[in-house]
Amino acid sequence: MSYNLLKGKRGIIFGALDAKSIAWKVAEKAHEEGAVFTLSNTPIALRFGELKELSVKCNSEIIPADATNVSELEYVFRRSTEIFGGKIDFVLHSIGMSMNVRKSREYDNLDYNFYQKTIDISAMSFHKMIQVAKKLDAISDWGSIVALSYIAAQRTLYRYNDMADAKAMLESIARSFGYIYGREKNVRINTISQSPTRTTAGSGVKGIDALIDFTDRMSPLGNATAEECADFCIVLFSDLSRKVTMQNIFHDGGFSGMGMSLKAMTQYKKCLEDE
Ligand SMILES: NC(=O)c1ccc[n+]([C@@H]2O[C@H](COP(=O)([O-])OP(=O)(O)OC[C@H]3O[C@@H](n4cnc5c(N)ncnc54)[C@H](O)[C@@H]3O)[C@@H](O)[C@H]2O)c1
Repeated sequence: MSYNLLKGKRGIIFGALDAKSIAWKVAEKAHEEGAVFTLSNTPIALRFGELKELSVKCNSEIIPADATNVSELEYVFRRSTEIFGGKIDFVLHSIGMSMNVRKSREYDNLDYNFYQKTIDISAMSFHKMIQVAKKLDAISDWGSIVALSYIAAQRTLYRYNDMADAKAMLESIARSFGYIYGREKNVRINTISQSPTRTTAGSGVKGIDALIDFTDRMSPLGNATAEECADFCIVLFSDLSRKVTMQNIFHDGGFSGMGMSLKAMTQYKKCLEDE
């Protein structure tokens, strides 16, 4: 069902790779809700992903950029404002990658070049994006910027590795820049802390199936899906959340508030009986 929540709004969506991507679902919903937007991802993702299909469906131009590269980000913002003939109302940062996770390097045996890349791609790119937008004055008053985070930013979850540090930094950037951009331009900046979700990035975390089962049993409302995450992004882009800024908002079916649930305890007891 569409509510026309983004009618007349213009945005940039970073990070749609394939139909499983959270950013892909956000693009589909934003299109349904009446927004126009550009899509951006790395040249390599454009070669191997399916973004062309999404761009046709949403009538959106694809602008290639490595989000760690400031001049490429400048091009994305310049080109988007040129296409729309005006400023941007919303930006989605849906970007994450860790070579340490991919190569199964444990947290006490990290490769530091990989670690720097994790931070640059998954967190510093958010700062770069916002700083570029602000310097170009590319975002409208009361615009909304959202990035996707994970609870490992605040609690230790086995195997999330250096991505936990990147997510902690991402959430901090939302607060630090949220103050400045809010004060000067009424632009709001938030992160959404999403349930584990089966996507390309999500599946890179070894043991994701066990984690998804555990968080689902622990959450009173069950895990939040990628589509539900997209719905929540739309609310944060819309005028219905104009005074929400500098927040990390858990979108996880209640997992973050739990310690132990009946469903998880029942499963755990079964394992003890098997021992
Ligand atoms: N899947 C989960 O379990 C989960 C849970 C919480 C938060 N998140 C976050 O959601 C966001 C989107 O991930 P997803 O799960 O949809 O997976 P995904 O693999 O579909 O998306 C990750 C995207 O990051 C892009 N990317 C990687 N390096 C880049 C770079 N240098 N420049 C620009 N783009 C780059 C990839 O091309 C890809 O499109 C990430 O920030 C991820 O950490 C995911």
